[in-house]
Amino acid sequence: MAGVQKKEGPRLDFFSDWKYSPAPESKDHIRLNKRYELFINGKFVKPTKGKYFSTINPATEEKLAEVANADEKDVDLAVNAAKNASEKIWKKMSGKERGKYIYRIARMLQERAREFAVIETMDGGKTIRESRDVDVPLAANHFFYYAGWADKLNYAFPNRNPQPLGVAGQIIPWNFPLLMAAWKIAPALATGNTVVLKSAETTPLTSLKLAEIIQESGLPDGVVNIITGAGLTGAAIVNHPLVNKVAFTGSTEVGRIIQRATAGTGKKVTLELGGKAANIIFEDAPIDQAVEGIINGIFFNQGHVCCAGSRLFVQEGVADLVIRKLKDRMETLIVGDPLDKNTDIGAINSKEQLQTISKYIEIGKTGGADFYQSSCPIPKKGFFMRPTLFLNVSQSHRIVTEEIFGPVLAVQTFRTIEEVIEKANNIPYGLSAGVWTDKGSKIFNITGKLRAGIVWANTYNKFDPTSPFGGYKESGFGREGGLHGLLAYVNL
Ligand code: NAI
Ligand code: MG
Repeated sequence: MAGVQKKEGPRLDFFSDWKYSPAPESKDHIRLNKRYELFINGKFVKPTKGKYFSTINPATEEKLAEVANADEKDVDLAVNAAKNASEKIWKKMSGKERGKYIYRIARMLQERAREFAVIETMDGGKTIRESRDVDVPLAANHFFYYAGWADKLNYAFPNRNPQPLGVAGQIIPWNFPLLMAAWKIAPALATGNTVVLKSAETTPLTSLKLAEIIQESGLPDGVVNIITGAGLTGAAIVNHPLVNKVAFTGSTEVGRIIQRATAGTGKKVTLELGGKAANIIFEDAPIDQAVEGIINGIFFNQGHVCCAGSRLFVQEGVADLVIRKLKDRMETLIVGDPLDKNTDIGAINSKEQLQTISKYIEIGKTGGADFYQSSCPIPKKGFFMRPTLFLNVSQSHRIVTEEIFGPVLAVQTFRTIEEVIEKANNIPYGLSAGVWTDKGSKIFNITGKLRAGIVWANTYNKFDPTSPFGGYKESGFGREGGLHGLLAYVNL
């Protein structure tokens, strides 16, 4: 630092002038096909109707590749391949042998981690920091973790006789494309099920790359089938009579459709839907850490996180301080090129999602809430949104009760523990929450009373394959991850 410090002028000027130089991750090593087919029965095959759609880079609006649009016929082929592989090979194979394949997939993913991180960022807009440090390593860890369970199912369910369900139909969203694929595929394989997985229409590329790894790993044909398409393709999976289990992550609206479609069919269902998490800051909290936790909870990953801390509750005595520090920190956030390692907030995943977020910002403004946005520059091309706060909101504001899925934080204050518990619980969702306080007793007191599947204490957005994840109420049901994640894929 000393060498580049300006000789004249006060030090403060130097810091306010100071900018990070661009540090973009290279994409020279990335090889994308012009066109991707469907991965069915161990081979890449053309869709029967020959239809394709494009996936773009939301940061540049450039087309990256074309992917196949699977229709009912393709879904039928994939489900039949999975059924066949289940009956003839996979459910008969020993857990030890199954585990070897899953370990192999985990190791191959680790070997190609950099490539996967860059493609994830290009296709979905999330920052390279996140795809490199969170998505890809966690995805590999999920395969490692569940590989370990494959030959130990009798220990997971002592004195029971865990049996696979058959074919699992899995439908995933665009916010953690590779990680969601890993969350769904790894426990299904470990428990002896076969898979038909559909990725989201804006982010199909890393699951197709995963299909390449699966093919290379020598996993028997048909055990995992990966297809692409939109809602109709997803519905065809859900409604297929040979599908025994449906695992879905996405909107509450589609979750409801799936629940109706599967009612009375005997299909086992897990749904991981939206959220509107409360992040609760008490007066005795470590304030600087809490502010960083708030930032991490809602602004990193563009707020595209179902468990994002999108409602902030600050205890009155520290409200002014927390809000001032929060605004100061927001000013320093860098919005822009997701491939740049300095970027804090990347691109919004799609034009539609940007419109949804903008719609909610208008609703917040016209509803009379105080609006604050950082003054950072944003790129002219691509889909971007500045970090945004709404202050002086109340429980009746739509921005407080509805999922926005963007970098928008609604701030409320509270006086007592009873008050904040009631406010935090008073929404249709119940996925996650955060609590910041110096007192362990307060943590135990409040975490038991919050109706949320996951509660973080003095931290936020921490994930681990060994710990179960899932919600209450309209956030869905069933758990993924950990021992609990196995239960969704077995008959006892
Ligand atoms: P979505 O629920 O429509 O999409 C999720 C997945 O479901 C995609 O793969 C999609 O192709 C598929 N799908 C759509 N309709 C289907 C149907 N009828 N049957 C079976 N599968 C179907 O979510 P969308 O439209 O991308 O986002 C809308 C909102 O949902 C977001 O603004 C956000 O609030 C929420 N969301 C929540 C997520 C979470 O992690 N819980 C992830 C993505 C979105
Ligand atoms: Mg894309």
